[in-house]
Amino acid sequence: MRPDAGPLPKAELHLHIEGTLEPELVFACARRNGVELPFADVEQLRRAYVFDDLQSFLDLYYLAMNVLRTAQDFTDLADAYLARAREQGVRHAEIFFDPQAHVSRGVPLEVVLDGLEASLSTSAERFGISTRLIACFLRDRGAREAMTTWEALAPHAARLHGVGLDSAEVGHPPEAFAEVFGAARDAGLHLVAHAGEEGPPDYVWQAIDVLGVERVDHGIRAVEDRALLDRLARDRTPLTVCPLSNVRLRCVPALSEHRLPELLDAGLLVTINSDDPAYFGGYVDDNFQALRRELGLGDDVLRELAANSFRASFIDEDDRARLL
Ligand code: HPA
Ligand code: ZN
Repeated sequence: MRPDAGPLPKAELHLHIEGTLEPELVFACARRNGVELPFADVEQLRRAYVFDDLQSFLDLYYLAMNVLRTAQDFTDLADAYLARAREQGVRHAEIFFDPQAHVSRGVPLEVVLDGLEASLSTSAERFGISTRLIACFLRDRGAREAMTTWEALAPHAARLHGVGLDSAEVGHPPEAFAEVFGAARDAGLHLVAHAGEEGPPDYVWQAIDVLGVERVDHGIRAVEDRALLDRLARDRTPLTVCPLSNVRLRCVPALSEHRLPELLDAGLLVTINSDDPAYFGGYVDDNFQALRRELGLGDDVLRELAANSFRASFIDEDDRARLL
């Protein structure tokens, strides 16, 4: 991957669209929607991007997204991501969004979906990026609210590619969401879940055995459990690892100490992703570059990681014809 070769072509499989909300767009949306912000300006907001853990990030993440009110806001958000992603070599993106984080503050689901789709439905033509949507349940709001959310999403199932599980992990194990994941599976949707980011390896076991997920988001704490590593390797269950996120949320002490090489050595299908790039200091190719710089990964490994992103994706025949 010489500097003049440009970024490796890749798929992005772990990307929260609300986590691409850059401070400039926060202020632009706040201004046009008349929303008061507890920050004087873009610089002050950016200076607040220092986190102790997942919860301290989530507090700011939910606060900032309060400026997203209209379909146009969601369209602008997705367009801004696609423009950045194109520069980072992204050819296909399976994008998370958090319906409950919007519906709970009075923004109708249809506004969110219509706004995102106004951008994403033409992403291939405009940006060379095919896109799919994955609706995530906020695990800290519990299984009952997840089911209510699913009942609202179900009429729109054809607009979705999958469901996921995110937000504060510890104390909110995957097994509580078995019923709602079963309903989504019956509707023909793909299943993924965040597990093993801050939570223990047991949450990863639950995600694969109880929820039946096809990919594990983060999953880095699997490295603590040899039997789990063997299982993930045997089944080729992909992990969507987000290195800069892991450092910023202090799940790992430094990128140079990230245990990603152990995951690769154990034979896992590992992919590299940006998670919430506006907050964590880089988009997806910035994660690749940081792995080269700080973990010493070579071109061959980086190329394999990029290839894994297509192997781990839910691309269908239409996508495949365009991408591979
Ligand atoms: N983990 C859990 N929930 C999230 C994250 C994350 O990294 N990003 C946005 N919501
Ligand atoms: Zn995430």
